[in-house]
Amino acid sequence: MKFAPSLLAADFGRLLETAQTVADLSAYLHWDVMDGHFVPNLTVGPVVVNALREKLSTPFDLHLMISEPHKYAPQFHIKPGDLISFHMEAVRDPVSVIETVRDLGARVGLALKPRTPVREAELLLSRIDVLLVMSVEPGFAGQSFIPETLTKIRQAKELIHQKRLRVELEVDGGVNLQNIREITRAGADIVVAASAVFGQEHPRAALEALQQAASA
Ligand code: DX5
Ligand code: ZN
Repeated sequence: MKFAPSLLAADFGRLLETAQTVADLSAYLHWDVMDGHFVPNLTVGPVVVNALREKLSTPFDLHLMISEPHKYAPQFHIKPGDLISFHMEAVRDPVSVIETVRDLGARVGLALKPRTPVREAELLLSRIDVLLVMSVEPGFAGQSFIPETLTKIRQAKELIHQKRLRVELEVDGGVNLQNIREITRAGADIVVAASAVFGQEHPRAALEALQQAASA
């Protein structure tokens, strides 16, 4: 199980120090990039993410919740092993966005909102590295996990297995100490958590507790 703590619930006045407290325990640092158009919230973009990219060696997981990912993805500085996910609902030609991201040297993630069925992504699975299944509506940290996502995770896992692909399954939204074991059992390979890590008084201890609960 890989962990991708999301900085969305971090203290944005101390982003670097906060990220450093969990960097060595994390497979990725997850950045929620929002444009106020695809989702009703605005966060950070390339200026902030690139400044931090220089200073951290943990791979970055850029979750682009934006309307024109092909236009903005090239503005992020990528290191080998970084992942860029864009939303299928945001684009008309997902294959060309996949190629754009691949050409940047990043791993490619395809993100699905809670109501987008897995079968809509079926034909793209062979072209991507990660399928990001949202378990809350994209836009904000601190929402409750949508229980139906468990079925969707199982379906996605089954489809990936049937096709003998190596696509990793990432689950994002509402993950906490109570539900992480079930999410892992359903088939998640990468879990994202903002509130359950950076919303806690001691993020590092909170992440360690989540890691323990995931494998309990
Ligand atoms: C929501 C973001 C999530 C969010 C998760 O739009 O994509 O990554 O930060 O926050 P929690 O873990 O608090 O649900
Ligand atoms: Zn996210």
